[in-house]
Amino acid sequence: MKLCVIEGDGISHEVIPAALEVLNAVVPEVTVYSAPAGWEYFKRTNKPMDDGTVDLALQCGAVLVGKASSPSYPVDGYYSPIVRLRRLLKTHANIRPTTYMPVPTAREGVDLIVVRENTEDIYAGEEFTLDDGGTGTVQKIVTRAASEKVAQTTYKLARSSERRRVTIVHKGNVLPKTDGLFREAAMSVAAHYPDIETDELLVDTAAYWMVKDPTRFDVLLTLNQYGDILSDMAAAWGGGLGLAPALSLGDGIAIAEPVHGSAPDIAGKGIANPTASILSVALLLRHHWGMHAQAQRIEAAVHQALQDGCYTADIRAQNPLTTRQFTDAVLARL
Ligand code: NAI
Ligand code: MG
Repeated sequence: MKLCVIEGDGISHEVIPAALEVLNAVVPEVTVYSAPAGWEYFKRTNKPMDDGTVDLALQCGAVLVGKASSPSYPVDGYYSPIVRLRRLLKTHANIRPTTYMPVPTAREGVDLIVVRENTEDIYAGEEFTLDDGGTGTVQKIVTRAASEKVAQTTYKLARSSERRRVTIVHKGNVLPKTDGLFREAAMSVAAHYPDIETDELLVDTAAYWMVKDPTRFDVLLTLNQYGDILSDMAAAWGGGLGLAPALSLGDGIAIAEPVHGSAPDIAGKGIANPTASILSVALLLRHHWGMHAQAQRIEAAVHQALQDGCYTADIRAQNPLTTRQFTDAVLARL
């Protein structure tokens, strides 16, 4: 088994090694191939990632990515490595589960999965400046093929994980040719799954319900940008970004990636919560490598550590554990 590891920036250097330690304790036969990428790497080399990184990822078939920092202003030659990787590796679905965790910051009863289309929408990279910088414009790309593909993956996942309902989230009333197409494609797939209930919500209403009562959701199927935002909202109910895992799933390839970013505000202090990365590895084991028992072992150890009050600083400010201490607590409970 091969794993391509791309560490990214900031706390990625702390949480990704922690996740690898846990993986190695459960599945020692994984060989790790590391590749650098991100903003720090760009500043050294003028490249966001190496030319060979995509080939390495394809050869490995499995990737663990720690997020890179991306400036919120244009920089010639820079792009977000993870957004590019998702597109080039054709990981069409991004799976983001939020389940109640035994921490004071979580909400009881929440158990949902956001599935986000992962290659198109306004994140496809077609952004332009016109009028000497006076106008910015972006192309929103939605294809029937990609919409059907992510819908297929969503309904298969819903069925295999014994979920009851899929809620299709869009803004088809304002964007009938893009979001409306996504809705229609998703509905056409839903017709093949009569055992699973399908409903729909406009994205603003979905955001309202995500705040007011997240327990009403089971599986959400949505476009790239809405999924980005709704899954961060959902993460708050799971106990916070420090606990929120994700998996980008393609055909024969997958990228495990925490939902959170590089957290520059706490980077280098050794206090980041590695749970999101550890649970992302568990998603990789379950949904990509089909190693359900090993995934379950990791999830149970994390759950037990939290149950026992092992909290990093994002969960509890008083006497928090460091990244190292929390990782040891998980390792001890495997
Ligand atoms: P962020 O997710 O890095 O941090 C948001 C807040 O959550 C911060 O207060 C941070 O300290 C906290 N936090 C996040 N993860 C944590 C963890 N594991 N343990 C403890 N606390 C944690 O989002 P932010 O600050 O908006 O972005 C920082 C950088 O990360 C930016 O350059 C952004 O571009 C990048 N980013 C990249 C993403 C990607 O998918 N490529 C996703 C989100 C951010
Ligand atoms: Mg995001």
